Amino acid sequence: MKRLAILGAGGHGKVVADTAESCGWQCVEFFGDEWPARTMNGHWPISGNTASLLSRVGEFDGIIVAIGSNSVRRSKVEEMETAGAQLVTLVHPSAVISPRAVIGTGSVVFAGVVVNVDARIGRGAILNTGCSVDHDCQLGSFTHISPGARLAGGVQVGDLSWVGIGASVKQSIRIGQEVVVGAGSAVVRDIADSLTVVGVPAKAL
Ligand SMILES: CC(C)(COP(=O)(O)OP(=O)(O)OC[C@H]1O[C@@H](n2cnc3c(N)ncnc32)[C@H](O)[C@@H]1OP(=O)(O)O)[C@@H](O)C(=O)NCCC(=O)NCCS
Repeated sequence: MKRLAILGAGGHGKVVADTAESCGWQCVEFFGDEWPARTMNGHWPISGNTASLLSRVGEFDGIIVAIGSNSVRRSKVEEMETAGAQLVTLVHPSAVISPRAVIGTGSVVFAGVVVNVDARIGRGAILNTGCSVDHDCQLGSFTHISPGARLAGGVQVGDLSWVGIGASVKQSIRIGQEVVVGAGSAVVRDIADSLTVVGVPAKAL
């Protein structure tokens, strides 16, 4: 039986577990720092915390980090890699991914996502339910594109940036690193590093 360990036992983790089962993983276990106070995450057991997983990485056929915070996800992925974990990429069978797109290791692609030709997604990304990433987009590492967000062609998104639920980004826009785009916003101008922008059109908070 193929065994997958998921680090991060919250709601996002449950969607990752469900996606993993759709991808054919037969045995899914969680690890999270709420253990031992919590021992189940929905339908799946929580078997230990981060330290337990670090000491057991060899027991699993794959490991994925399911933590919504981009910076925490990056640090946990780095810890796992240092311990020799076999990080996997999960793509829900209902996602439509161009064979000419590239998706980095440790990323998750949920149901209904579309990734078009020549898009490049870095490692550890979250492409959340029903988002679309159009042709020639370039996403850095540890980005999160929330449910229903739309990136038009040729958009660039820097490392650790988060595009909120239902946001839209016009073609060829450059979004810097560690940017937050608020829910429902429309991005029509380039955005410098570390800004939070909201609204239609999106402006810095
Ligand atoms: C942008 C965001 C991060 C700001 O959060 P925050 O720093 O806690 O900001 P606040 O809630 O204190 O709001 C500050 C101001 O910005 C406004 N604002 C916040 N988010 C906004 C948005 N998405 N669009 C328009 N205005 C927004 C608030 O109304 C408030 O305005 P006011 O000062 O006139 O009352 C957050 O509102 C957001 O949109 N997060 C994305 C959520 C998401 O996509 N979730 C999906 C998870 S998978």
